Amino acid sequence: MAEKRTSIHGQWSSRMVFILAATGSAVGLGNIWKFPYITGENGGGTFVLIYLLCIALIGIPIMMAEILLGRRGRQSPINTMAALSAEEHRNPNWVLLGWLGVVAGFLILSYYSVIAGWAMAYVFRTAGGLFTGVTADGVNSIFSDLVSDPEKLLAWHTIFMVMTMIVVARGVKNGLEKAVTFLMPMLFVLLIIVVIYAMSTGYFMDGVRFLFSPGEITGKAVLIAMGHAFFTLSLGMGAIMVYGSYLSEEYSITQASVVIALADTAVALLAGLAIFPIVFANGLEPGAGPGLIFQTLPIAFGHMQGGILVGVLFFLLLVFAAWTSAISLIEPAVAYLVENKGVNRIYASVWIGLLTWLVGLGTVFSFNIWKDRTLSIPYLFEDYTFFDTLDYLTANLMLPLGGLFIALFAAWIMRVESTREELHTYPVIYKVWRFLVRFVTPLAVIVVFLRGIGAI
Ligand code: TRP
Repeated sequence: MAEKRTSIHGQWSSRMVFILAATGSAVGLGNIWKFPYITGENGGGTFVLIYLLCIALIGIPIMMAEILLGRRGRQSPINTMAALSAEEHRNPNWVLLGWLGVVAGFLILSYYSVIAGWAMAYVFRTAGGLFTGVTADGVNSIFSDLVSDPEKLLAWHTIFMVMTMIVVARGVKNGLEKAVTFLMPMLFVLLIIVVIYAMSTGYFMDGVRFLFSPGEITGKAVLIAMGHAFFTLSLGMGAIMVYGSYLSEEYSITQASVVIALADTAVALLAGLAIFPIVFANGLEPGAGPGLIFQTLPIAFGHMQGGILVGVLFFLLLVFAAWTSAISLIEPAVAYLVENKGVNRIYASVWIGLLTWLVGLGTVFSFNIWKDRTLSIPYLFEDYTFFDTLDYLTANLMLPLGGLFIALFAAWIMRVESTREELHTYPVIYKVWRFLVRFVTPLAVIVVFLRGIGAI
């Protein structure tokens, strides 16, 4: 049995707190903002089905692998990979996996923060009664007014980055624990209220049909569905790994992973059920892109009883959900700086936050002054803005690649005794997990990726 390590950053006070923090990381803009709009852009049914398959066959096994690696290494992903490859007497270059994650997290946060800023702006627009009795055209123009103004976006982006830095500087445990216990369930309830409104539009079944009845699908859409499975579960970059490093020995990794994945999926599907009936009832375009929720939900809030209150709470909770996700995106980098450079958390958070903020300017401008500055990379994408490019490179390339290597490391590099000891689960579950991470997950990631870029 390997010598047990402890984390210098502290430990979660209970299993429940770990589950809440990891769910807080998983549930965010990915579920409520991204899932509906990419589902709309990729035609619905089949896309959703593939996404669900990816969650089950790729997401859950990789989540287990990530938590396992983190808990065994007990350090930032970079140092965890160094420690574990040394423990298994393998190539030290596995640390590169940690670095890949740090870079991915940083790039994701740079645009995540800008979108979270939209949600903040909408708290105030809703509170001001701007949406009362609004039409689809009205909502559209309110949305364009916001995103076409770089100053507004910049201000909200700055505020959100400061909020994120404050929590990370104080340490992920303090404050976060309490926030997620109450706010997550509350978000769930509000989503259900919007779903109930969606039922009253008379177009509920159109939404259901769009979400669940299969149709045509392209290789690229399959890649986007898989990339989103990584994104929505916060996998492939070490966020869940670093959270796992604060988890105590005795808890079941399997159970935690299943609970987190179920909660995350439930929120995404509810968001879909809330949004698509509104899309069809108002003759909107499902493929409207990143503005989709901001062009649909306000219609619901503008027409339901008590819509201002429900709307304000909804966007407020969305900001909270984004906040609890954002902190997990830079925690690996901050933990690394604290471990290796001897700096304190405040210093580390401020520097990383500043850098992220700076890169975020590219996303701020993607919706206005740089709207027409686009990039094409053969095989990968055509005419993408700075934001589209970052989103594509992180979700469809870096996260699956990170996840692939995490699976390979857990299944092919670590000894069976090490992983079995760390998972300490029923023999059948262990066997199934090992089979999935050894063969199914790596193959699926490779095949989906190659098909997605049209190589096979
Ligand atoms: N999962 C979050 C969401 O769906 C975003 C997120 C947080 C994330 N941490 C991550 C995505 C790590 C990828 C990797 O909104």
